[in-house]
Amino acid sequence: MTKLIEEITLGLSQTTLKNRIVMAPMTIQSAFFDGRVTQEMVDYYASRSGDAGAIIVESAFVENYGRAFPGALGINHDSKIAGLKTLATAIKAKGSKAILQIYHAGRMANGELMVATNRSLPVLLPLYAITQKPRSR
Ligand SMILES: Cc1cc2nc3c(=O)[nH]c(=O)nc-3n(C[C@H](O)[C@H](O)[C@H](O)COP(=O)(O)O)c2cc1C
Repeated sequence: MTKLIEEITLGLSQTTLKNRIVMAPMTIQSAFFDGRVTQEMVDYYASRSGDAGAIIVESAFVENYGRAFPGALGINHDSKIAGLKTLATAIKAKGSKAILQIYHAGRMANGELMVATNRSLPVLLPLYAITQKPRSR
């Protein structure tokens, strides 16, 4: 039990965590429709940072066609970097390391969640995201 509060250095990255308490990734579905970080997310993660050695930020889709749920966080485009940097900075400022989980939903991806690159559909697709129901398997 004493090891829980001892620091640990992770092998590959050689990053040292101040203790062995890590917050598991938990999706809060609070990103913008295109997957960018919202201020709500920054505040949420900042409030949970500090005591844990690391915070694993919820799963982020790596590709637009790999989304699984509305409000998911994305790391699929350079436009996401600024928001993710703000999020990481907020976590690290409180003393925890920031880790990001990445995913692609594969055959479980939900086509209704794709954000249009076609500018003629700027409103309809976000509404789809709000009203979509889980599909049956
Ligand atoms: C609301 C919610 C969202 C979650 N989102 C993710 C996620 O994004 N990625 C993931 O790997 N697990 C996710 N999980 C699973 C948790 O990380 C955790 O593994 C699960 O709650 C089991 O916890 P335990 O290992 O302490 O039993 C989520 C769990 C909950 C309750």
